[in-house]
Amino acid sequence: MLVEKNVALQPFNTFGIAARAARLARIRSELELEALIRHPDWRADDVLVLGGGSNLVLTGDVKRLVLKVEILGRRLVQETDKGYLVEAGAGESWHQFVAWTLTQGWPGLENMALIPGTVGASPVQNIGAYGVELQDRFHSLDAMDLETGAPFSLEAAQCGFGYRDSVFKHVPPAGGGYGLAGRALITRVRFWLPKPWRPVLGYLDLERKMAETGISVPTAQQVFDWICAIRRAKLPDPAQIGNAGSFFKNPTVTPEQCADIIGRDPKVVHYPMPDGSIKLAAGWLIDACGWKGKTVGHAGVYDKQALVLVNRGDAEHPCTGGEVMTLARAIQTSVYERFGIRLEPEPVVV
Ligand code: EPU
Repeated sequence: MLVEKNVALQPFNTFGIAARAARLARIRSELELEALIRHPDWRADDVLVLGGGSNLVLTGDVKRLVLKVEILGRRLVQETDKGYLVEAGAGESWHQFVAWTLTQGWPGLENMALIPGTVGASPVQNIGAYGVELQDRFHSLDAMDLETGAPFSLEAAQCGFGYRDSVFKHVPPAGGGYGLAGRALITRVRFWLPKPWRPVLGYLDLERKMAETGISVPTAQQVFDWICAIRRAKLPDPAQIGNAGSFFKNPTVTPEQCADIIGRDPKVVHYPMPDGSIKLAAGWLIDACGWKGKTVGHAGVYDKQALVLVNRGDAEHPCTGGEVMTLARAIQTSVYERFGIRLEPEPVVV
């Protein structure tokens, strides 16, 4: 297999940060990956797995071997009277895959339309939007052990899904234990799309669309179109303005902490969770601290959604990962000083 040297990573991260990879290998099949792992120079602890680069901040050149996952393929594995089992290669574009399932007549992924990135990255942070998370439609996945080259499969219960979290984000402790970060590369993912299809319309933005259009029983394609319109109106298109989606997770607090904040800021956006905790809108907290539209160097806070940090430079003079992280830390400090809440970044920082 060809290992390319000194490769520009700017086209491969949606922030558009300029950095280089000392070595990069494109993984187009399980066989190619296996051959790489069996090579005498292989070191499993010296790789960076790259999907669509949509959840990544590069703070410098990458010395590790970058594995760019380009495994393609989409197919219906099985149809029963209870639903459709659909599979996609890890390198498929997530949004193209969602659009394809709809044109095939297999609805269920429409609320997650337009999320940037690849199918293989989708379970890593358990992507989610507008009332549906990946774990709600996930069936199973195939992966390869980066140390041994052995293929294995995982079902949902083995993936440790949580809010923007999974077993793939946790580094296994020395001596073994929970965590597959750096240990596994996801090659294929399967989704279960149940019959009969029922739209998920509980989200405020979708209720507004129903009221605007007068359509109370939308088709899956209609929901898909609404989601695309909602996202385009408030989230920057990485092809136009570099970004990595929401930069921080929405924090969870106790009812007592929330009551304390409401006492000081009655308008704080909060959602009670089934376990009794309260989720706060990080975008609101950042906005309340006056960050919307602000710029530090070439990094900035998007003017329509304060939770999204953006690249305000151009292709020749992009923001640096250092500028993004300086801005992120300044935001964390001001949210902590005003609300006593520590915001946790969502993207992987390399
Ligand atoms: N808000 C503000 N000011 C802002 C931003 C938000 O007041 O600058 C308020 C909004 O008015 C709203 C609330 O905060 O009342 C929540 O905002 P929004 O509905 O835009 O959703 P979010 O919580 O900011 C989350 C996900 C998004 C996902 C949307 C829709 C996280 C970290 N983010 O954003 O996911 O698309 O809900 O489901 O959970 C991503 O993870 O990259 C991502 C974009």
